[in-house]
Amino acid sequence: MENNHTCDLLIVGGGIAGLSAALEASKYGKVTLLTKGKIGETATEKAQGGIAAAIDQVSDSTEFHFEDTLAAGAGLCDEKAVRVLVTEGVGRVKELIALGAQFDKAETEAGGTRYALNLEGAHRRRRILHAGDETGAEIEKTLGRRVAAEGKVAIHQRMMGIDLLAENGRCLGAAALNQQTGETRIYSAKATLLATGGVCQAYLYTTNPPFATGDGVAMAYRAGAEVTDMEFVQFHPTSLVQLKGFEDLIALPQFLISEAVRGEGGVLLNEKGERFIHELAPRDVVTRAIVEEMEKSGSDHVYLSLRAIAPDKVKHRFPMIYQTCLERGLDITKDNIPVAPAAHYFMGGIMTDSDGKTNIGGLYAAGECASTGVHGANRLASNSLLEGLVFGHRAAVAAKYEIQNTKYEGITKFETTNSKPRLKDFEAQRFKLVIKSAMWNGTGIIRSQESLEDALNKLVKVEKQIDFAPVSADELELRNMLLVAKLIARSALGRQESRGAHYRTDYPRKDDANWQRHLVYKMTNGEFRMTN
Ligand code: SIN
Repeated sequence: MENNHTCDLLIVGGGIAGLSAALEASKYGKVTLLTKGKIGETATEKAQGGIAAAIDQVSDSTEFHFEDTLAAGAGLCDEKAVRVLVTEGVGRVKELIALGAQFDKAETEAGGTRYALNLEGAHRRRRILHAGDETGAEIEKTLGRRVAAEGKVAIHQRMMGIDLLAENGRCLGAAALNQQTGETRIYSAKATLLATGGVCQAYLYTTNPPFATGDGVAMAYRAGAEVTDMEFVQFHPTSLVQLKGFEDLIALPQFLISEAVRGEGGVLLNEKGERFIHELAPRDVVTRAIVEEMEKSGSDHVYLSLRAIAPDKVKHRFPMIYQTCLERGLDITKDNIPVAPAAHYFMGGIMTDSDGKTNIGGLYAAGECASTGVHGANRLASNSLLEGLVFGHRAAVAAKYEIQNTKYEGITKFETTNSKPRLKDFEAQRFKLVIKSAMWNGTGIIRSQESLEDALNKLVKVEKQIDFAPVSADELELRNMLLVAKLIARSALGRQESRGAHYRTDYPRKDDANWQRHLVYKMTNGEFRMTN
C-alpha cells in the first residue's frame, strides 16, 4: 500500500451508515471506505431487533412513527430531522428490500404474505421489520454485497482513524493506522464522512462490540467539531447476566436479549416471580424499574420469562438467542433468563444538520457517532438502523456538491511521532478498565452530582497518569475513550434535571423551563468549552 492516498469522499466506518453513503457517493465520485476491523465487523452486524419503518400504511402511518419518536425523545428531538427520518425511511427500507434484504414474512388470512412486523417499546403500532434475531447482519450483508458487486468503492480493512486532518476550519482527510503493518497512512479527500459507530465500550457493562470506543466523536472533537447531547446514553434493559462457569466472559460485551422478545410476549419477573413493569414502556423507564427491583432484592438481575411464547416460535423467531443461551446452559423455552441493563446506545455525538454536515467544512457524520437530533434524550427502539440508512445516504448526497466543486488541497502537516513515552505492555488495557468502571459507577443509569464528580475525578486522575504518545490501536482507543468519557461526565454534571435516559437523584424531575435545550461542546485552546 502506498502511504498517501487520494479520494473524493473518505468514509471512516463500514456499518449501515458508511455503506449506505458509499453506495450513493460512488455514483459520482471516487470513494474510499476504511473499516476498523475486517469488513462486516460492525455494530450493525450485531443488531438483533430490527429496523422501524411505517411500511404498513393501512394500520400505521409516518405521522404515528413521527409522534412516537418525539414522545420517546422527551422534548429534545429535532422535529425536522425526525420528519426526514420517518418519511425518507420508508423509501430507503424499500430500496434495501429491492437490493435483496430478506425480512421475515407472515401469511395473511387471504393466503398471501406480508411483512411480519413486530412491536417494540413505546411504538404504538407494529412497525419493526426483522430477519429472525439477526436483522443487522442481513442488512450489512445486503449492502456489503451490493458495494462489492458494483466494485466502485475502495475498501481498506483494519485501518483505524487516528486523527482528522483539518486546516483553517476545513477537513482535508484523515490519518489512519494500518493495524497490520503499524504504519500511518494519510488519506486526502475533498470530503470526509465519519460513520464510526458508538461509544458504549466506555462502560463496564455494554452490549456494544469491542471496537465501539468513540473514535469518530473523539477525532471530530479534537479537530474542532461541535459535539452535543453527550449526557444521553441509553441503557438496554435486558442483557444476559453471565451464568456460572462463564465468568471469564465478563470481559466480552454483554449478550443482548433483544427487546423483540418482549415484543413477542416475554415478561419481566422479579425475585418473587412477580411482574413489576409494563414490558413495552420506553427503555429508560423499563431500565430504571429493573434497577429498582435489583436494589430491593439485592440481586444482580431480574428474570425474563418466555413462557407465554410457544417453544417452536421461540426457536424459529429467535434462533441465535436460543442457541447462544443454550450454549451457556439455559433452555429459554423453559428457563427464565437472568437479565440486567447494560450500556447500549449513544444518543449524543458529533452535531450535524439533516444533511450530515458538521461545523467543519468538508466534514460529515452519520449513524451512531452523529447527533442529528432524531433521538432526543432517548432513542425509540429500532430507529438506529433507520437513522444510519437515511442519514448516511443524505450525507453522500450533500457531499456531491463539495466533491464536484472543490479541488484537492495538499495536506501540509501531520505529526506521526512525538517525544512522549509509550505505555508499558497491558497498561492501556488496565486504564481502559479504570475508565469503564468509573463510568459505570458514576455516569450510569442513576446519577447524582456526587457520583458524576467522582467519575470525573477518576477520569482526570487517569489522564494525569497517561501523558503518552498513542501509537497502537489499543492506545488510540484509550485516548478516545478517555476524551469521550470526560465529555459524557461533564455534560451529565451540567444538565441539572432528569430527562429521557439521563436520570439524576438530586434533580429527579424534567425541567422544561430551564433545560429543554441541548448542551453543545467544542474544544477551544485545548479546553472544553460549552458553546451555548
Ligand atoms: C434490540 O434488539 O433490543 C436492540 C434494538 C435497538 O437497540 O433498537
